[in-house]
This record gives sequence, structure tokens and C-alpha cells, in this order.
Amino acid sequence: MKTVKIGLLGLGNVGGGTYQILTENKEIIEKRTGLTPEVVKILQRSRGKKRLVEVPDNLLTEDPDDIIKNPDIDIVVEMIGGIEPATSFMVQAMKEGKHVVSANKAAIAANYRLLTNTAKENGVEFLFEASVAGGIPVLTAIQNPLQANNFVEVMGILNGTTNYILTKMTEEGLPYDEVLKDAQAKGFAEADPTADVEGIDAANKLSILIALCFGKHIDPTAIPTVGITGVGADDIKAAAESGKKIKLIGKASLRDGMVEYMVAPTLLDEKHPLAGVSNEFNAVYITGDMVGELMFYGRGAGPLPTGSAVCGDILKIMKEKF
Ligand code: HSE
Repeated sequence: MKTVKIGLLGLGNVGGGTYQILTENKEIIEKRTGLTPEVVKILQRSRGKKRLVEVPDNLLTEDPDDIIKNPDIDIVVEMIGGIEPATSFMVQAMKEGKHVVSANKAAIAANYRLLTNTAKENGVEFLFEASVAGGIPVLTAIQNPLQANNFVEVMGILNGTTNYILTKMTEEGLPYDEVLKDAQAKGFAEADPTADVEGIDAANKLSILIALCFGKHIDPTAIPTVGITGVGADDIKAAAESGKKIKLIGKASLRDGMVEYMVAPTLLDEKHPLAGVSNEFNAVYITGDMVGELMFYGRGAGPLPTGSAVCGDILKIMKEKF
């Protein structure tokens, strides 16, 4: 069976989940693609760090060029996070003729045009399903089955950590700090949770949704953004007393030909479909002019749900390009 050679940039939560899926589900992947996915190199910059998965030592490297410039590698999977050096690594890999898969919402939201144009100029695929709402295949849905619609609105719970925190504060009356530590221990809050709790992570994901739904790139720093650090037990109690729930919502709507957007804690009627989305789950609620309203629901964070979306992109490239 022909082999497709893969290089992983990063072996954190998402990298570990991706490696685990490619290894554990190798048989079904081979059956579905007629090809063998072989991870040949993994960039791991902090060698001392505890790993989620066991990986043969000979696969590990601290030099990104062992992957980006490696003539044997067909697909580069970027999962190191952050805008740089991730963006430069992806651009270099595309210029070397490699297909790129990424889970990195910060880099894609900041450099959407650069990355998509570089892929086009170099005739390679650039897929990033895992960057928005983890395991939920919403970007593929927007770009394929829904592509005949004019999108009217896209709104969602786009951050698992903050949804988990708000859920536990609401349902169990637990204090913010305690719930945040729990979310970090479960692997869906970042070690530095600032981007989650300040709404920056949700703004990055909304920027990508806006690009795909409305064809405009809005720099995430230009999206009016309020996080959840100002939401107190009193607010949650007052909301409950009036039959509402507080959710961190990212929303973009088309009004008179203009796209309006924001990320903010929002009061939702308890009957709204998004109000029932609890814990680390994400959901994206889309209105198209022809299809009407749709909701996509699932796990938006965590090694295996996010790795599932990364692997879906890898398999799509394997099937279409090899
Ligand atoms: N920290 C992010 C979240 C991870 O909590 O949703 C997934 O992007």
C-alpha cells in the first residue's frame, strides 16, 4: 500500500490526539483511503514536558526544518499554536510544496489572506477544520453543503473553557477560580487561560467563520470583544430568575449589506437552542437564506475531538491528492 508521509509540528494536546488517532485508527484509515498515513517526524520543542502519548524517540526533532524542508514529507500538520513562528512555518512548508493542515485559530485569524493566498500560489491544500469548534465539522459544512446559501447570521458558543466555567458556575454554584483549574486539568483550557476568558480565542474563531460565511477577513483584534471575567455569581443568579442563561457568544450578522460582529457574554432565553449547550461543548447556529436555521453541536476542545478534525483534513488530502 502506498504511504503518505506526515510531519507534525507540535506534540501538545492536539498533536498528541492527532498522533493517537493516526496510530490507533490506522486500519480504518487505510481501508477508507487505500493509503497508509505514516508520521515520519514530530517537532517537539520542550522535550522535558509530560506527553499524552508514547512516541518513538527517533521521530522527535527540535529542528522545524527537519519537517518543513524534509523532501520526504507530503503533509505538514501545524499544531504548535500562537501566531508566530506558526505562520512562518506554514508559509515555508507551502512554498516547499507541502499540503498544510492546521488547528491554529490564532495564526489563521491573524493571517487568513496570507495563508490562503500562499496555498493557492503554490498549488497546495490548506485545510483548518479543527481551528473552529474542535471536532464539529462546521467549516466543511459552510464550504460544501451550504455553499449555495447567502449567510444571514452565524452565532455560536466557540470556546469550551468559558462554556465549562459558566456552566459549572450556573449549575453547581462553584467559584470561577476553582472551575478554571478543573478545566485546565481536563486539557481544554490553555495553560495561560487569558485568551479563553477574555474572549480572544472566541474572536479568533469568529474571524474565521466571518471569512468563510461572508468572504471578508476581519482582523480578530477589530472584533468588539468582552470576556467572562466580569461575570459574577450575582449576574448568573439574576439571569436565572428571569428565565435566561449567560453564554459567551460570538456572533456575526448581515444587516443592510454590512457585517456586524461581536463577542460578549449574552443573555439567552432558556429555550434558545444554544442555552442548552453545556460544559465544554461548543455549538454553531447558522442561518442561511435558503436552508434556514441549522445548529452544529459537539466537543469544541480536547485532544481527541480536535485531533478527529485534524485527521479528517489529513484524510481528505490523502484521498484527493495521492
Ligand atoms: N481553549 C480552547 C477552548 C481550545 O477552550 O475552546 C479549543 O480551541
